[in-house]
Amino acid sequence: MIVPLSIIATAIALPIIVTAVNVSVPLAPPSGAQTLSPTLVSFSIEQDNWPDWTGTDSRNEFVHTALLNYAALTGHPPNIRVGANSEDHTFFSPTVTINEDQFPPPNTVTPYPEASTITVGDEYYQLSRFLPSGTHMTWGVNFGADNVTNAVNMVKSIIKAFKTPSVTSSGVVLDLIEVGNEADLYKNNGLRPSNWTVNQYVPDWISVAGPVAQAAGITGRNGSVSLQGAAFAGQGFTPRQIFNLGILNSAPGKDISVISQHRYSAAFCDGGSFPLVSFMSKSTIRSNLTIFNADIAATHAQGLRYILGETNSIACHGAPGVSNTAGIALWMIDYTLQASTLGMEQAFFHEGVGYKYNFIQPITLNRSIIDNSPLNPPQPPHVQPVYYGGLVVNTLVGSTGSSRIVELSVNDSNVSGYAAFEGGKLVRAVFINLHPWLASSTGTRPSVHIDFAFTGGSKSGNATARRFLIQHADDTANVTWAGQSFETASGLPSGSVVRESVVLSKGLDLPATEAVLVDF
Ligand SMILES: *[C@@H]1O[C@H](CO)[C@@H](O)[C@H](O)[C@H]1NC(C)=O
Ligand SMILES: *[C@@H]1O[C@H](CO)[C@@H](O)[C@H](O)[C@H]1NC(C)=O
Ligand SMILES: *[C@@H]1O[C@H](CO)[C@@H](O)[C@H](O)[C@H]1NC(C)=O
Ligand SMILES: *[C@@H]1O[C@H](CO)[C@@H](O)[C@H](O)[C@H]1NC(C)=O
Ligand SMILES: *[C@@H]1O[C@H](CO)[C@@H](O)[C@H](O)[C@H]1NC(C)=O
Ligand SMILES: *[C@@H]1O[C@H](CO)[C@@H](O)[C@H](O)[C@H]1NC(C)=O
Ligand SMILES: *[C@@H]1O[C@H](CO)[C@@H](O)[C@H](O)[C@H]1NC(C)=O
Ligand SMILES: *[C@@H]1O[C@H](CO)[C@@H](O)[C@H](O)[C@H]1NC(C)=O
Ligand SMILES: *[C@@H]1O[C@H](CO)[C@@H](O)[C@H](O)[C@H]1NC(C)=O
Ligand SMILES: *[C@@H]1O[C@H](CO)[C@@H](O)[C@H](O)[C@H]1NC(C)=O
Repeated sequence: MIVPLSIIATAIALPIIVTAVNVSVPLAPPSGAQTLSPTLVSFSIEQDNWPDWTGTDSRNEFVHTALLNYAALTGHPPNIRVGANSEDHTFFSPTVTINEDQFPPPNTVTPYPEASTITVGDEYYQLSRFLPSGTHMTWGVNFGADNVTNAVNMVKSIIKAFKTPSVTSSGVVLDLIEVGNEADLYKNNGLRPSNWTVNQYVPDWISVAGPVAQAAGITGRNGSVSLQGAAFAGQGFTPRQIFNLGILNSAPGKDISVISQHRYSAAFCDGGSFPLVSFMSKSTIRSNLTIFNADIAATHAQGLRYILGETNSIACHGAPGVSNTAGIALWMIDYTLQASTLGMEQAFFHEGVGYKYNFIQPITLNRSIIDNSPLNPPQPPHVQPVYYGGLVVNTLVGSTGSSRIVELSVNDSNVSGYAAFEGGKLVRAVFINLHPWLASSTGTRPSVHIDFAFTGGSKSGNATARRFLIQHADDTANVTWAGQSFETASGLPSGSVVRESVVLSKGLDLPATEAVLVDF
């Protein structure tokens, strides 16, 4: 006997949520479609433990494999920026071989603190050769110390490294030098006096970046190596302000080819409790990014590229129960694709060793990333759920190097959608249902039915779909992308790829806390 759904619902009094949306999907890219960079998903690595990412005697095979999984989808490995907070605590020494770091003691809030000082030698930069061939890099130099001699020593060692036979033959390429990380925070962290403003920043930066650019042999923004500008933490200093103060007319300012700003949606520096559900929100994902619109426009008006040069969910290495969960992978997909529609060319997700928000844990961990408790047995290198978000994004981007994106208007406060175009034609779309389905959720998992309303022509027949499956938003493991798990010892996927057929005239169902990618 077939019982009508409405009768079941009444009988067992479950709040069955039946929602359906018609999504208008253009068959050709509308004006305003943005180009999708093959390195939209890139990484920023904290400078102190850089050798753990690359390996020292031989390459870190796990990291290499995890990066190649991304490269396989877009044809390009993610760009790697090495820098961040420890960039301004790094000193070059001709007597150090690789690096010598001093770390403060760990605690429950910060199980893996950043080094307070890092002293590096020539071989430190030469480790770049262990990244996948074709990786393009950005290296940070110390502006915090305001020491021109040290900054010049650092950049000379960087340039020298990229001229060694081992690095040149590795196919890893230096693109950018960043002089100083988050200088807008220097007045708070003791690197400059408390009355230091953006008006002092500009001449101060010129006084260090000038000799750095000269020592690096940088001549203008179109050369093989150029400068990354700004790299501000918040909106204490803005690209618009430094443009107005004439930075781009200075000698090193003429070497700036890209403007970087940083963004975290919250901060866990002193701990605190952050609801995961507040991140699984279409509206706050958008409001965290649209604050940059005026700076993006001003940067493009100068003919410069704009990137989110350091980002992730929650500053100070992430928050437990949020940054390390499956739900944050859905946040990452919507956040990254939204950024691309706003004209941000790349998003560099910040990583360290043992950080809660890492996509990749590069080495064996002996202490919990959550509370510093001992891990027995230790946890070998692995990927965290957010890593899968990058797989979904890179699948949408594809491998032509010239795909374009628009956001689709989805009339549901929890569901977002994006379409990708190649050669003037619709090729793929992704839909993300951010409605949180938690381990504590009860009843029937809600689902949204999506119907496609094609515009600019008609489209019928079948498409194929691949799903990013999550049991609960607050799970910290056990997710799959297209039927495959990447939670393996090698970093290579296990299982075979699962594709389903979608009848275009019938649309598809998208359960809460799930994403689906459609190949048209
Ligand atoms: C979607 O469009 C179809 C056909 O125009 C219409 O019958 C249906 O009511 C629409 N559904 C929604 C949720 O707007
Ligand atoms: C600046 O750096 C150089 C080279 O590392 C060092 O010899 C010098 O003492 C530093 N100056 C100051 C003021 O710290
Ligand atoms: C900042 O304060 C210092 C004293 O702490 C003073 O010498 C300096 O002139 C001030 N700079 C500006 C720009 O006000
Ligand atoms: C750099 O290249 C751009 C685009 O090709 C060109 O418009 C610009 O004049 C060049 N700038 C310099 C300083 O050579
Ligand atoms: C950024 O996102 C967080 C988490 O969703 C939210 O709490 C915060 O209000 C957002 N900030 C802005 C400026 O939108
Ligand atoms: C964990 O212990 C192993 C073996 O002693 C060591 O090689 C590794 O570096 C340690 N991991 C961390 C993050 O300290
Ligand atoms: C969007 O959905 C709401 C109900 O959730 C409905 O009232 C409204 O008409 C819909 N708007 C469009 C453009 O379909
Ligand atoms: C969106 O998700 C929230 C929970 O975050 C839920 O309360 C709300 O009903 C959902 N909205 C729709 C339209 O399903
Ligand atoms: C993953 O799934 C396995 C097997 O179902 C289970 O034992 C394990 O607890 C799960 N891990 C997490 C972190 O959810
Ligand atoms: C289209 O998909 C449906 C449902 O999966 C399937 O039954 C049907 O055979 C497919 N048609 C074609 C032409 O592949």
